[in-house]
Amino acid sequence: MSIYDPFDSETKKNPHPTYARLREEEPVSACPAHAFHVVSRDEDIRAMLRDVDTWSSKFGPGLPFAEPNSGALVGVDPPEHTFQRKLIGAVFGPRSIAGYEDQIAALVEDILDELEPKGGADLIPTFAERIPLVVICRLLGFDDAPLETFRRYVHVATLGVLGEADPIELEPLYADTMAYFRSEIARRAQLIAEGATPPDDLTTQLMITEIDGRTLDENVLLGFMSFLLIGGSGTTTMLIGNVVYELLQRPGMWDQLRADRSLVPVAIEESLRYDAPVHGLFRTPNHDVELHGHTIARDTKTMVLYASANRDPRVWDDPDEFRLDRDQRQLQRHLAFGYGTHICLGAHLSRMETRLGLNGLLNRFPTLRIDGDPVDTEPSVLKGFDHLPVAWDLNDAGR
Ligand code: HEM
Repeated sequence: MSIYDPFDSETKKNPHPTYARLREEEPVSACPAHAFHVVSRDEDIRAMLRDVDTWSSKFGPGLPFAEPNSGALVGVDPPEHTFQRKLIGAVFGPRSIAGYEDQIAALVEDILDELEPKGGADLIPTFAERIPLVVICRLLGFDDAPLETFRRYVHVATLGVLGEADPIELEPLYADTMAYFRSEIARRAQLIAEGATPPDDLTTQLMITEIDGRTLDENVLLGFMSFLLIGGSGTTTMLIGNVVYELLQRPGMWDQLRADRSLVPVAIEESLRYDAPVHGLFRTPNHDVELHGHTIARDTKTMVLYASANRDPRVWDDPDEFRLDRDQRQLQRHLAFGYGTHICLGAHLSRMETRLGLNGLLNRFPTLRIDGDPVDTEPSVLKGFDHLPVAWDLNDAGR
């Protein structure tokens, strides 16, 4: 009997007791039913993610095997990865992102203006999903984006990490999304060909930026855009929902944050540690590897459990407690954004979106409370909510 089965309904509901058993009893564990290994201790995961020569991403970060080296960023190894990362790093660094802060703050205010008179809402579709989705579309310069198609595409595509996506549902959403991306690329290409100035946005920059004398070919460009949409919006939705939920669960914490806003970034990091939105992703070894007495055969999918590392008692005091008195710098060593060569490029943006969103809610809704049963996200390896009913008093804003 293997200790860990991510599809087991009890494990899905609360995987942390299983992660604790893995760390103590089988830090490398086989999951024969689904033909993968899982690694659960912080130290081992860091060592793996540092060693890209052994632990390849060429078959993709999910459980299903992708065409080798066919993806963008998360699906390629150096040297191709180095080129892609340089290119996207050039247009997506913290300095470019900081320029969007005022726009995102204004978006949050608009959404809250709409919500306030209602006295209650499902926080996920109305708020946590809208912010990152609208922001990524604005960054890419998609003024008339089909938001509902994108929203559903992100939802179904994230099920693909463990091969749970239904291809019949996914294919039309994928086709519509790619058709939209292609039309946006073609529109800019035509403007450039005519000698006109294309819009100054991420799509144009990804099209024209040259690194080492090379630009991105269209397939990789489409892969990038798709990854930014999926990796950049669903994950941040989960982060926003998770941090609000954990704060509202604990008497007094919402008021504590309202009184001391320096705790907002701490609450966000603690949520990332305590409730990593992405519990784990996969690597595939280029040769047989011996670890803790187990042999992991070449080309066996191997899961790195970020969410388990984030509660490893070798690293964290009281790992199963959600606390606001941890040191923020120490907290940032959690693995929710991955580690090493493939560490998340959107960490800065998602922290900013969550900080602005959370501050907006704290400003406008002092009486925010959970008002019904939350519904967990569907994919087995992600942690967040699809629904989070909340309520607030109608005269809240004046307090
Ligand atoms: C709370 C929100 C987020 C979480 C939890 C998260 C998580 C992760 C993780 C775990 C990885 C590592 C993948 C691996 O090791 O194979 C990653 C990579 C990446 N993320 Fe994020 N992410 C978030 C938000 C974002 C946002 C907002 C964007 C962009 C808009 C983004 C873009 C990327 C990119 C481009 C990579 C690939 C880096 C590479 O392969 O070199 N992420 N993310």
